[in-house]
Amino acid sequence: MLLSSVATALSVALALHIRGASARAGEWKRAAVPNYWFSFGDSYTQTGFDPNAAAPSGANPFGNPPYPGWTATGGENWVGYLTTKMNNSLLYTYNYAYGGATIDANLVTPYQPTVLSLTDQVNQFLNGVGRKPTSIPIGSPNSLYSIWIGINDIGNSWYQSGDRAAFSDTLLNAQFALVQKLVIISYSDVGARNFLFVNVPCIDRSPLMLAQPASSQAGEKAVIQGYNAKLAAKIDAFRASHAGVKTFLWDSYTTFSTILDNPTAYGFVDATSYGSAANLFWGNDYHPGSSAHKFFAQAVDDILAKTVW
Ligand SMILES: *[C@@H]1O[C@H](CO)[C@@H](O)[C@H](O)[C@H]1NC(C)=O
Repeated sequence: MLLSSVATALSVALALHIRGASARAGEWKRAAVPNYWFSFGDSYTQTGFDPNAAAPSGANPFGNPPYPGWTATGGENWVGYLTTKMNNSLLYTYNYAYGGATIDANLVTPYQPTVLSLTDQVNQFLNGVGRKPTSIPIGSPNSLYSIWIGINDIGNSWYQSGDRAAFSDTLLNAQFALVQKLVIISYSDVGARNFLFVNVPCIDRSPLMLAQPASSQAGEKAVIQGYNAKLAAKIDAFRASHAGVKTFLWDSYTTFSTILDNPTAYGFVDATSYGSAANLFWGNDYHPGSSAHKFFAQAVDDILAKTVW
């Protein structure tokens, strides 16, 4: 189910503030053992997880670093809230997201050569817990895969010459080639697989972009909207061609827009200020702060309401 508004998500989340197991019984089996979330993305998702250090455990469901990890603007981000506070079961989260990530460094160069792209992150997964045999149930019907990418791909390329719509197709083809790798590795006789996709938010409304000419904001916005429409179609095609695959889409563009159109309704002073105070949507000029991330998590929580996650 897609959200029509963040306000709905919030009221639902508040209404379900204390959730018993029975409130969340769905088609997914609630297990006594942990369920798993494999997360990929950029700075909007990163927590500084090192796959070669401590693995997620009861002591820290993120594994490492100490919770809530190294997030873009400090404090808990959407992955943290969902893993530890809005979780419907014990959730172990392997968060491969890396700040500055693009889908493929050969398509869009990241801001630093050391950045691990989505391609690198998926390879890290495949060469790590993706190696079988493993004690990690990567193919369990109770495992969730999420990808929130595209912010830097568009941010670093929207202004370039050439057909931007065609380039969005190129980016999405690269992303779904990686998704296909995850499907193959995670498929087993059980069959059901779960993917949470996130589209690109209206970063044309970030303080960084608001300092640019209106024509630049409009230019980036058009590319984002075109990309998001193509992503939605791509997800539909992916699901249609993969029996047993379940997809979720968090429309972050709408969540951001809804809050930024009416910031005071969500406890923010305005749509443009940034800093570390809890009543600021933006933590810095390009990243939302932890208070905003709580609303993001609530939006996703509503989408995952009937699942084990
Ligand atoms: C949610 O996660 C926390 C932290 O790992 C855990 O203590 C708690 O039991 C989990 N909640 C449920 C409903 O399993």
